[in-house]
Amino acid sequence: MKFGYFDDSNREYVITQPDTPLPWINYLGCQAYFGIISNTAGGYSFYRDARLRRLTRYRYNNVPMDFGGRYIYLRDHESSQFWSPSWQPTRNNLENYRCRHGLGYTIIGSAYQGIEAETLYFVPLDENLEIWQLTVTNRRATTAQISAFASIEFCLWDAQDDATNFQRNFNTGEVQVEKGVIYHKTEYRERRCHFAYFACSRPTVGFDTQREAFLGPYRGWDNPVAVEAGQLTNSIAHGWSPMGAHQVKLTLAPGQSDQIIFVLGYHENPPDEKFDPPRSQTIDKKHVRPVIAKYLDCSQAGAAFDRLHRYWDGLLGIFQVDTPCVHTNRMVNIWNAYQCMATFNMSRSASLYESGIGRGLGFRDSNQDLLGFVHMVPSRARERILDLAATQLPTGGAYHQYQPLTKRGNNDIGSGFNDDPLWLIVGVSAYLKETGDWSILDEPVPYDNQPGSETPLYEHLQRSLRYTLNRLGPHGLPLIGRADWNDCLNLNCFSDTPGQSFQTTTNKDGKVAESVFIAALFVQAGSELASIAALRGLATEADRYLAEIAQMDAAVREHGWDGEWFLRAYDDAGAKIGSQQCDEGKIFIESQGFCTLAGIGLEDGLAEKALDSTRKYLATEHGIVVQQPPYSRYYLNLGEISSYPPGYKENASIFCHVNPWVMIGEARLGRGDYAFDYYARINPSKREEISETHRCEPYVYAQTIAGKDAPTFGEAKNSWLTGTAAWNYYAISQWILGIRTTLDGLCIAPAIPKQWRGFKATREFRGVVYRIAIERSGEGNRIALTVDGLPIAGNIVYPPADGRKEVNVRGILT
Ligand code: BGC
Ligand code: NOJ
Repeated sequence: MKFGYFDDSNREYVITQPDTPLPWINYLGCQAYFGIISNTAGGYSFYRDARLRRLTRYRYNNVPMDFGGRYIYLRDHESSQFWSPSWQPTRNNLENYRCRHGLGYTIIGSAYQGIEAETLYFVPLDENLEIWQLTVTNRRATTAQISAFASIEFCLWDAQDDATNFQRNFNTGEVQVEKGVIYHKTEYRERRCHFAYFACSRPTVGFDTQREAFLGPYRGWDNPVAVEAGQLTNSIAHGWSPMGAHQVKLTLAPGQSDQIIFVLGYHENPPDEKFDPPRSQTIDKKHVRPVIAKYLDCSQAGAAFDRLHRYWDGLLGIFQVDTPCVHTNRMVNIWNAYQCMATFNMSRSASLYESGIGRGLGFRDSNQDLLGFVHMVPSRARERILDLAATQLPTGGAYHQYQPLTKRGNNDIGSGFNDDPLWLIVGVSAYLKETGDWSILDEPVPYDNQPGSETPLYEHLQRSLRYTLNRLGPHGLPLIGRADWNDCLNLNCFSDTPGQSFQTTTNKDGKVAESVFIAALFVQAGSELASIAALRGLATEADRYLAEIAQMDAAVREHGWDGEWFLRAYDDAGAKIGSQQCDEGKIFIESQGFCTLAGIGLEDGLAEKALDSTRKYLATEHGIVVQQPPYSRYYLNLGEISSYPPGYKENASIFCHVNPWVMIGEARLGRGDYAFDYYARINPSKREEISETHRCEPYVYAQTIAGKDAPTFGEAKNSWLTGTAAWNYYAISQWILGIRTTLDGLCIAPAIPKQWRGFKATREFRGVVYRIAIERSGEGNRIALTVDGLPIAGNIVYPPADGRKEVNVRGILT
């Protein structure tokens, strides 16, 4: 069953039924001002940091679900009836309801009793504001007298405090209303220099800023008393809950349309220009007024919307494919790339499953996100890399997270996740391969943000590798620390107290538990660094890395192989995890995926065996589960992984983030059919048909799909912010379609299904456009390439020596 359809030519997903199984959201903004918006206009906005600079309120995990939003009400003054054209909050029986989620914008429209209304929501590039452009059309045979109300509820900035510290917060709220603009200025009197505003393009007949005046006591957003009465009350908030509502009256002749723009924004004044006059408490508006005026103008708003379109044309144009599979084309060309932008921007902070207050930017997460983002805006990738590296500790270790606003490592979670530092090498390597910008390696970057501690970025990478080598366990495998990629495999935390953190309550000395996954990551990151060192002319260093990698590879073969597959880990007692010998959790995906991705066992059949076992024991119709059998009870020595009931999250769900590692392993083995088959199983567009089972958005990946041991097998959760976005994008584009960036050129090495006759692609790479056509002439994945008609040796296309900006590449697979 479907709840809408893909409109590929407009790059939109069109939802045609408002009561989707879960709110299906989109992101507004892609630079500093952001919002999430659901298909019924739920969601909230923030500036940079969803916790510390939250502009509007949202009520997570509430009933009914998805409350708090950018709500518009229309009221017919003849009948006194009112409704929301976005369905929520009033939930009337609308006609022609549709929500078009597009790239950086959402349009929600419907008709009710002959009145058609549509609102376009978007954030203009380079601005800290959002535009709601409402068009109302009278389809009746008679003139209509309509009031349009637009409303939001302000958050008192720190979303955590806002939801908990009521004894203070019910007293601090302040607003100012001037020339039809509502300014929210709570705490502006003291240490804040920023405020929010809510403006309207038309003369208003009323406003409200006190929530209780607008809603009425004991009422909700579905039935505001002021809308019911047909007249806002011009209330001024003092304490309690400041909000913003505008009322505009429209007289519409039959067939007539009218348009209103509402602008919600954030502004920061210089500290010495907070007030005007200086000793007053009145906000100085000289800087913000022109911005507001600009976007209340329809033609300016229209121009900003066109610019946003062109921006996305440019970003998506960097890589476009034309394959025999519509789901592949759609995801690669539009939605997966788009999701990569959102995950890059948000890391794991703000979605419907991440409350925006829990986690900052993850060190390992952000580095992995680069894999899917770096080609789009390399300059922002560069900045992110330098920010991440600046939180690295002098030991080479890393804070697990940092706050986007302060860019400081977050002490709550601390460090000691022993895979973290290696991801920095993976991220930097992806950047170098994309851009060839070697200057980044010489950038001075501090440790733990301490001025004076700067070394070139390159040394950060050296220390990352050393960090692992300095922490090897009894089998010569890396010690796991608090956890590795699997945050829930907590081998040094024996927690028997409810509520204790599984990761940070460390009560073992950490000298025994080892991770085969980190060993594989070390092999991968180490060989990336060895190639970088070699190209930097550091041959001895490169050789040393190769020797260390060989040693790690040997340790994996000797102590990390279980006969049919790779082991997962050793626990604190030195017992095996992910082994035939275990009662539960006999085989895990992470080590099968990452060992083969890293090339361990490619030559001697171990990789093939491991992937065959993966197919046999872990693959399901909905994707590959984390492990089998799942843990049926809580294990003190394993931690959070066994806290989930079987089939969910790290306890044997289909963790979509790690499925691509297996795809890449299969591609490395040249088994294109298997690689693509796994790709298709979790492709959201392919799963659109089973939306009633999948339940999450069909246009983006979710973190998990309930595994076969769960009663809800096939149900997705935690959509949008997940490493799944970058890894699937990377797997399909660089390994299955095989258009792969390397340090010195573009490698073309597809591993596609036998049935495909070929495919076409366009790839902009370091300023050159490569038009690639692949044709199949045999069943295998051996490739012969011609560049502009001339055959070349090998599978790497180097940038043209004569400065040509367009190159035609043809590849024949045999
Ligand atoms: C989740 C993990 C996540 C971790 C972050 C756990 O509860 O299951 O997926 O990485 O929290 O701290
Ligand atoms: C989600 C976290 O964000 C990520 O860092 C982790 O690797 C996975 N969960 C697996 O636990």
